Amino acid sequence: MPFQINSFEQYLSEYQKSIDQPENFWSGIAEHFTWKKKWDKVLEWNFKEPSVKWFQGGKLNITENCLDRHLMEKANDPAIIWEPNDPKEKNRILSYKELHGEVCRFVQVLKNNSVKKGDRICIYMPMVPELAVAVLACARMGAIHSVIFGGYSAQSIADRIEDASCSLVLTADGGNRGGKDILLKDTIDEALQKTGHVKKVIVLKRLGNKVNMVDGRDVWWHDEIKKVESQGLKDTTAEAMDAEDILFILYTSGSTGKPKGVVHTVAGYMIYTTYSFVNVFQYKPGQIYFCTADIGWITGHSYTVYGPLCAGATTLMFEGIPSWPDPGRFWDIVDKYKVNILYTAPTAIRSLMGFGTDPIKNKDLSSLRVLGTVGEPINEEAWHWYDEHIGKHKCPIVDTWWQTETGGIMISNLAGISKGKPSYATLPLPGVIPLLVDENGHPVPGSDAAKDGVFHKGASGPTVSGNLCIRFPWPSIIRTTYGDHERCRVNYFATYPGMYFTGDGALRDAEGNYRITGRVDDVLNVSGHRIGTAEVENAINMHPEVVESAVVGYPHDIKGQGIYAFVTLGKEGQEKGVKKESVVSEVVRVIGVIARPDKIQFVTGLPKTRSGKIMRRILRKIAEGEMENLGDISTLVDPAVVEEIKKGKV
Ligand code: WTA
Repeated sequence: MPFQINSFEQYLSEYQKSIDQPENFWSGIAEHFTWKKKWDKVLEWNFKEPSVKWFQGGKLNITENCLDRHLMEKANDPAIIWEPNDPKEKNRILSYKELHGEVCRFVQVLKNNSVKKGDRICIYMPMVPELAVAVLACARMGAIHSVIFGGYSAQSIADRIEDASCSLVLTADGGNRGGKDILLKDTIDEALQKTGHVKKVIVLKRLGNKVNMVDGRDVWWHDEIKKVESQGLKDTTAEAMDAEDILFILYTSGSTGKPKGVVHTVAGYMIYTTYSFVNVFQYKPGQIYFCTADIGWITGHSYTVYGPLCAGATTLMFEGIPSWPDPGRFWDIVDKYKVNILYTAPTAIRSLMGFGTDPIKNKDLSSLRVLGTVGEPINEEAWHWYDEHIGKHKCPIVDTWWQTETGGIMISNLAGISKGKPSYATLPLPGVIPLLVDENGHPVPGSDAAKDGVFHKGASGPTVSGNLCIRFPWPSIIRTTYGDHERCRVNYFATYPGMYFTGDGALRDAEGNYRITGRVDDVLNVSGHRIGTAEVENAINMHPEVVESAVVGYPHDIKGQGIYAFVTLGKEGQEKGVKKESVVSEVVRVIGVIARPDKIQFVTGLPKTRSGKIMRRILRKIAEGEMENLGDISTLVDPAVVEEIKKGKV
């Protein structure tokens, strides 16, 4: 691969070059992609507005880079290997040529259904190859995809459709996950009763169950493909997109309000995801790469679809879950396809650890070369289990820190090139300048990768800590939050002027390795999924008997964090007695199963200051089981509630 880093020395020199001459550095990388027209200007930026523009004047299509350019040499190589949820069902393997054909056909389906460049398309589908086809077809014709994970509720879908004014929905009659059927179309029908934007729904047949098809609105995927086959494929040229045209919107939770639509644009996202894929995983042509993330999350976008396909890799897509039909499923897949690179989440590792090593026995894992983790801090115990039982001490583990907003991996060791360190994401990728700031926004001495040196071999000294910021744009940085640029500015660029603020806390050791310690805002990380406490509170408060609630996280052995809700009921609710389950159901109804609270505690009041602010610090400590050292509670309006809450802890 042209821009693959081959040694630690080379990493250091590339890093240096990337900060000394970022424009030269990134244009050198961009040369290795297919452009319809080269760019006029590499970078223009300020973090004040913020405004970041990479490769202005350039024209390209990301799918020409994912598909067309591989057709000369890799036409018959597998692009996507798909493993179904049910191991008894037949798998599917799509070569680059076949995938290209499917995408071109589906572009015509979209056009036949009046989709135009710039339209927003909502995708709510199971993990089947057609989901990748759908995403790529949007990109090929310049429609903007907004993929929604299958665990979100009708209300969440409706909110996202409204926010982006989506005109068309791509869905399926249902999907399989573990032993369960997920009735996606029913949820879409319910969502579409709450919003009027959508004109068309294209439905893939997956389960074969009976679904309600609305005349004039809903059409079957296979009928639409048949139409294209009888029409014959018209023009298959990919749309010429501006470098800064929007590629997709992906919603993610923040500390306030409703989820926001993170916007990524074509060129920068393509270049950064491909560059980071090739370097972090040290992908070699012919290897089988398996990322277990759903395409509904950023990891699936960047490292199941776009990054690997742009790099000409074979990407394995799995429809199911790690524990079904038994907890050996991942290892069966590794054995069956001779997987070389496995990229998964700490929560999956921890849950599989719980089953011991029996499910690994008699599974041949010797094809594995590289292991990766993403989504949350990995605890040392899980790291060592992964290293010993899966990697057999022979595979480097890359602990990749990044976010929906960063588009690609920002801090990680490069497999076999730079050293891993349990629970540390380690060093920044070229082009990334992290630094830590204290509460007042002052840079913490010794924490700036560029100014203080990215690496200090064998250095001993204090570990510094602070809030993690990035002080220079990389190509796949968030461009805006859809429809509300001010929100993007306030959320990410206003806390510490001149810097992108991640919302995470971190440590930096004397050698220069970063360790992410977790969110410093009111965002929970539950099984690697981001959930805003305010979002869960809003949902709980929609319950007719609930007056008020406060949601905090607490340590959970498998999920990393669990959701703990303190809830006060109105008089009527108190009298007739409200079931905890009904509060849980309300959250599932409003947000979806992914935000299901683990613990509900009914309380008669919440600890509040005289100005009415809920003291979450106290609730967090109680939820964690810390009953002493609650700090100063004298400023509370009613300190007695604290005793009551302590007694009632669940
Ligand atoms: C957390 C997922 C520690 C972090 C790609 C971040 C991590 C949030 C790691 C983003 C890691 C992600 N170590 N924490 N390797 N990777 N995080 O947007 O808190 O779903 O801010 O993106 O996950 O979650 P998101």
